[in-house]
Amino acid sequence: MQIIETERLILRPFREGDAADLFAYLRAPTASCFFSLKLADLTEAEIEVKKRALDEGSVAICLKQTGQVIGDLFGGGAGEDEEDGTTSVGWHLNPQFGGQGYAFEATRALLDHLFRAKGFRRIYAYVEDHNKPSQRLCEKLGMRREGVFIEFVSFTNDDAGNPIYENTMQYAILRREWMSGATATGQPLGISSAAGTDTSGRRV
Ligand SMILES: CC(C)(COP(=O)(O)OP(=O)(O)OC[C@H]1O[C@@H](n2cnc3c(N)ncnc32)[C@H](O)[C@@H]1OP(=O)(O)O)[C@@H](O)C(=O)NCCC(=O)NCCS
Repeated sequence: MQIIETERLILRPFREGDAADLFAYLRAPTASCFFSLKLADLTEAEIEVKKRALDEGSVAICLKQTGQVIGDLFGGGAGEDEEDGTTSVGWHLNPQFGGQGYAFEATRALLDHLFRAKGFRRIYAYVEDHNKPSQRLCEKLGMRREGVFIEFVSFTNDDAGNPIYENTMQYAILRREWMSGATATGQPLGISSAAGTDTSGRRV
């Protein structure tokens, strides 16, 4: 993917050196849909970073000031444009950096990129019905709640080993809605094709 710059963040592909930052939040994922991504140690984190580095749809969210990876996004990966220009997006922030608007800043830039640069027609997100922060994020992005799938998916089992099914909401927004809406920037967000250097000299 292209490197995307926002006011406080750089969105870029994962690369060698990101393992410790990724491990900091994937050692104990809090959202049920990411339980399966739990990493046991730094070695597993290094393998995960290598995998993500090859995935066009996998995006690292970095602080401009320090270069630290504070979360990740996905969307627009290979093969995802097969269904009539539709792609799904998702997000995962290190809880240490929650409540500061970083998730909104990053996802807004990603949606803008997927609609403008990648030409997607429709973007959707699956969100569990108990995941209020993600629902709030979708709403702030101008996404519409299109429905709730009852007992749609299971990420965990109960003590007897039976799957616990969760109710999943689908939020979505169309390109034309994004372009005419208040959430879009009106102008393409700063996108640079080459990596730069942050204020601490760390490559971003
Ligand atoms: C969902 C998730 C990304 C939301 O992160 P977040 O930090 O709470 O969300 P935001 O970045 O939008 O910020 C939220 C709050 O930061 C504050 N904020 C917003 N902009 C700000 C700014 N520029 N400066 C300081 N604070 C700001 C606001 O109080 C905002 O809340 P409000 O908009 O409701 O008033 C995060 O909880 C997460 O990673 N959860 C686990 C993973 C997950 O559930 N993924 C989805 C699976 S379906």
